[in-house]
Amino acid sequence: MPHIKVKPFNSAIVEEKIPRSSLLTFRATAVNRGDEIWGVQLEDKEFLLQVKRFDTYVLIKYDKVTRPLKVNLLKEALKRIADELELEVIASNIAQHKESRYASEYEKSIEDFYEIDFPFEKVSVEVGFGSGRHLLYQANKYPDTLFIGLEIHTPSAQQVLKQIELQGLKNIWVVNYDARLFLEMLPSNLLEKIFVHFPVPWDKKPHRRVISPSFLAESMRVLQKGGKLELRTDSDNYFWYALETFFGVPKTHVEVRKNEALEVTSKYEARWLKMEKDIYDLYVTCQEVSQARPPLPDFNFNIVKYRKGLEDVLPQKALVEEDYFVHIERLYKSGDNLLLVKCSFGSFDRPEHKFILLTQEGCRYFVSPPVKTSVNHKAHVKLTELLSNVKCN
Ligand SMILES: C[S@@+](CC[C@H](N)C(=O)[O-])C[C@H]1O[C@@H](n2cnc3c(N)ncnc32)[C@H](O)[C@@H]1O
Repeated sequence: MPHIKVKPFNSAIVEEKIPRSSLLTFRATAVNRGDEIWGVQLEDKEFLLQVKRFDTYVLIKYDKVTRPLKVNLLKEALKRIADELELEVIASNIAQHKESRYASEYEKSIEDFYEIDFPFEKVSVEVGFGSGRHLLYQANKYPDTLFIGLEIHTPSAQQVLKQIELQGLKNIWVVNYDARLFLEMLPSNLLEKIFVHFPVPWDKKPHRRVISPSFLAESMRVLQKGGKLELRTDSDNYFWYALETFFGVPKTHVEVRKNEALEVTSKYEARWLKMEKDIYDLYVTCQEVSQARPPLPDFNFNIVKYRKGLEDVLPQKALVEEDYFVHIERLYKSGDNLLLVKCSFGSFDRPEHKFILLTQEGCRYFVSPPVKTSVNHKAHVKLTELLSNVKCN
């Protein structure tokens, strides 16, 4: 990842140059630590750079949480900052290269679903599509259905996006995000089917399983009446666990089959078939129309502002509640005007890592608010409470 190594310099130069800089917006130093962070705005993107001082050089590098999607933008920022501040570069890796990430109109971010039109009347979801064999097969066979494929493994998602292009398919959207949180973004009564084929069994860490009472409840909300959740697994343990979970939800119809041949064999299935393993199918049919989903929550901090001494009253330990947590990890300050709070929060499965920027004018997530899930919102309410602490001036 892009960085530059420069000869040590006086940080006063940075403070002096910021008001006239074309891209640096602020400099803040870590409370009780030596490292610092710089705010950057380039084109229409904001991000942070980490600055670490060593005896013989200073390392200026990207920040993991806020890094822009385009690596070249980051490289450009490092180059321009070195020029503007007249830094002596010892080493760098900021030569521009063709962006390697495959961009496709069929890739959707979870945020796209805040307001999205579904251009197909029929919509189905596949969770953890892996190599995509089943997803591509379904999309080819049912061109009038939109298939939303969810996959946390980025290389698999990228491979399938290439296949969509090669096969000329127009009815797949790929979302590189955790299925356990994604369903919340969908309107009620939308889906015909949810396929969960060969989910990771997570025998030693069952809390990481895709199937859970809350996933099932969300599935029943987003499925139409008569719509089906189809689980296919080779794991006895997972089968029994899922069966118990499915029977725990009222007003569903559960069907079990064993060693049923499907029209398409996934990569995983082919392996188990060779080993002559049993394969179980569990079908859960949604039996009622669900109420409309309430509007997605708001993530503004409203009247919160930086007040002197706030950094002294923020908790240093993680606050852990039943279904979410909030952890203030590090604080960066710039004089008495600006506090940058690095924190993680939200669900235990897929925590958010964010910065929150407080100034005397207001407070906002830097660069963008978290995904609008209900657990993130609970954490946001807790953060708002902590940042409005009245014990400071
Ligand atoms: C065992 S593989 C099965 C892949 C494919 N369904 C098949 O049958 O060949 C499980 C897949 O689920 C993905 N996965 C695991 N947890 C997930 C989650 N919470 N959301 C989305 N995908 C997930 C993994 O990255 C992996 O590709």
